[in-house]
Amino acid sequence: MTVTLVTGGAGYIGAHVVRALQAAGDDVVVVDDLSTGFRDRVDVPFVRLDLADAGAPDALAAVFAEYAVDTVVHLAALKDVGESVAEPERYYRVNVLGVVHVLDAMRRAGVPDLVFSSSAAVYGEVDRDGVDEQQPCAPINPYGRTKLVGEWAIEDATRAWGLRAVRLRYFNVAGAGDVTLRDRIAANLIPIVVEQVRRGAAPRIFGGDHPTADGTCVRDYVHVEDLAEAHVAAVGALRSGRTAGAAVNIGTGSGASVRDVVDVVGAVTGRPVRPVVDAPRAGDPAAMVADPGLAHRLMGWRARRDLIDIVRSAVD
Ligand SMILES: NC(=O)c1ccc[n+]([C@@H]2O[C@H](COP(=O)([O-])OP(=O)(O)OC[C@H]3O[C@@H](n4cnc5c(N)ncnc54)[C@H](O)[C@@H]3O)[C@@H](O)[C@H]2O)c1
Repeated sequence: MTVTLVTGGAGYIGAHVVRALQAAGDDVVVVDDLSTGFRDRVDVPFVRLDLADAGAPDALAAVFAEYAVDTVVHLAALKDVGESVAEPERYYRVNVLGVVHVLDAMRRAGVPDLVFSSSAAVYGEVDRDGVDEQQPCAPINPYGRTKLVGEWAIEDATRAWGLRAVRLRYFNVAGAGDVTLRDRIAANLIPIVVEQVRRGAAPRIFGGDHPTADGTCVRDYVHVEDLAEAHVAAVGALRSGRTAGAAVNIGTGSGASVRDVVDVVGAVTGRPVRPVVDAPRAGDPAAMVADPGLAHRLMGWRARRDLIDIVRSAVD
């Protein structure tokens, strides 16, 4: 039996990852401080712990020993870009120190395999489709920078002591496996538009003159259940020695514009939607779509769900 410890497992993505790992036959333990997570999302052994605390490496090493953990999926982090601009110290503390503490505990306890939640935010302002992992990293906000520093710490550990790691760079995650696992903090486009349409409010579109087919920003929306399955694929690839410290994009490879999203929400909810176009936001790239080819080559993973599946699961 393999035992995977999921940090941040009470979070939106983490709870889906826990469920997917269980479905694949792993035993799962969750570590989370419940700062943005919810205890009722998961029904597995649970340890409440702030991973940025000075005592976290010792506490975590004890959890590894108690449950005979052999793999870690490290999702616990803060993820609000605007908040990271206002409070960078808190973001570096949680997102960077958290990684360092996880690595420290893994090294001491001899836990070999790590899957890390990174983000397309590490690339910065890339304005095109088909962004692959060769794209230079140039994050433009503290959140993206903390994710990149976390990646560097992991790369250095793979060189120093033989850690086996894969860094998953998620594009725009949305949707839900079921209503209990839904994102409860509406901070991304799809939950925001769904909420506005439910209230009968007009969704706001930032920028209608971008150099895209319909003038609105294009993004790569990946269903959270596809993303969860990518973690299962990553764990399998790690255990068979196939990923060799790689950074891997997790996206669908096809873009949807803000207007597409608004139209699909209107079609799925059956409500009339008349968006209002506002001024563009500073630092919002026109298009950001993954080349997910490496995920398929290394891990045999490919997204199976589309934008309609995503919106349906966010609305039902
Ligand atoms: N949601 C997205 O679109 C997206 C995109 C790219 C990357 N990510 C990354 O995915 C991961 C999960 O994001 P999410 O959307 O599920 O967010 P979330 O806020 O729902 O989940 C984060 C979880 O981590 C826990 N946590 C935070 N700080 C902690 C600490 N110091 N110690 C222990 N636990 C702590 C929270 O309580 C929460 O349960 C994050 O690393 C995030 O950066 C998310």
